Amino acid sequence: MTTRREFIGGASAVAGAAALGMTAGCDPAESGQDGDPGSGTATADPSGGGNRSGLSILILGGTGFIGPHVVRHALARGHEITLFNRGRTNTHLFPEVEKLVGDRNDDLTALEGRRWDAVLDNSGYDPHQLGLSVGLLRDAADQYLFTSTRAVYTDFTAEVMNEDAPLGPDDIPESQWDGYGPNKVLAERVVEEGFGARTLIVRPPVIVGPGDRSDRFTYWPYRIDEGGEVLVQGDPTDPVQFIDVRDLSEFYIHLLEQQTPGIFNSVGPAAPLSAAELVYGIRAITATPVSFTWVDWDFLAERGQMPQAQLPFWQPPRGRYLNYGRMDSSRAIAAGLTFRPLAVIARDTLDWHRTREEAGEHQWRTGLDRATEAQLLEEWRGVAGE
Ligand SMILES: NC(=O)c1ccc[n+]([C@@H]2O[C@H](COP(=O)([O-])OP(=O)(O)OC[C@H]3O[C@@H](n4cnc5c(N)ncnc54)[C@H](OP(=O)(O)O)[C@@H]3O)[C@@H](O)[C@H]2O)c1
Repeated sequence: MTTRREFIGGASAVAGAAALGMTAGCDPAESGQDGDPGSGTATADPSGGGNRSGLSILILGGTGFIGPHVVRHALARGHEITLFNRGRTNTHLFPEVEKLVGDRNDDLTALEGRRWDAVLDNSGYDPHQLGLSVGLLRDAADQYLFTSTRAVYTDFTAEVMNEDAPLGPDDIPESQWDGYGPNKVLAERVVEEGFGARTLIVRPPVIVGPGDRSDRFTYWPYRIDEGGEVLVQGDPTDPVQFIDVRDLSEFYIHLLEQQTPGIFNSVGPAAPLSAAELVYGIRAITATPVSFTWVDWDFLAERGQMPQAQLPFWQPPRGRYLNYGRMDSSRAIAAGLTFRPLAVIARDTLDWHRTREEAGEHQWRTGLDRATEAQLLEEWRGVAGE
């Protein structure tokens, strides 16, 4: 059986070979949609990777959060996009783009008999779904990029949390694995087995930015812009990581253009960021007077306020989450991942949030409401003896 390390090594070798036109599936003459040559033109690249323009890209999904950003960026780069989804969500988007309708759980007939240079799979969550899409597309596409997740690492205690850190729960037999992270591990395996050295797997942390309906990052620019005394959970030194959706989208297209296979932690920012740096960094986007009061994790947990539930969006760095906020993304950075500044992300996210507020369509999904925050601050002052 091929190990992860062997796969990465083999994948890099094949990427080099592909750049030289040595892999049959990556020959530009064979990569046209519906057998038409001409899409996916390779040009010489001094970095040693391919540098393909005019790619035909099938996106499984494309209309939720990541999808619209990646579609816009890919179109701006001159690529040809096909979307495959159930035709339910944001159907008004991208009238100029080809749309195929089906359900990846049981109906991929719209994809039969077609060919693409690359598949970008944002909407796969379990090995059943990946079994169907990979089975159908392994001979119909050169590359398969699967959006996985940081949650594949259910234990974050490894000293270096790079792509070789242990995956999935080690206290449960694989036959009983269930839930988001374990299913993503099993789904990744299906892609690797089907596409081999043509596989790209990207493992993002919390994805933030305009369009993020989870509210996990958005809460902070919003709350800080409101001003006053802001409760911040935990310790100012707690490590925090995230990725802007536009940085992620640009990375995806870059990987496909460069034909860079492999597994990547797509985690930002480039340098370690503490919770204090996060909130003070966000404060830079507002002129509203604001102060921060740091409230102990255990005090909050005793009052039912839990990390990532009521308290977005980082974890206390202890127990199995010891290095959750210290993922190593050096491989992704070497492959071309870049990062917008925090202030730009915060400003753009707040501007986007204002548009949905104006449309009257928003209910907060996480974060403290003002009454709860005030109550907790009062109790905390009592405990802290102020
Ligand atoms: N948000 C985060 O912080 C975060 C962090 C790490 C990883 N991720 C990963 O990011 C991915 C989510 O990306 P996204 O939703 O923003 O992607 P997207 O490319 O915007 O795709 C979402 C679209 O997929 C379609 N879809 C859903 N189920 C489908 C099905 N059964 N068959 C066909 N189409 C289906 C939906 O359209 P229809 O309703 O029209 O079918 C939906 O609009 C997931 O893989 C998730 O694990 C997210």
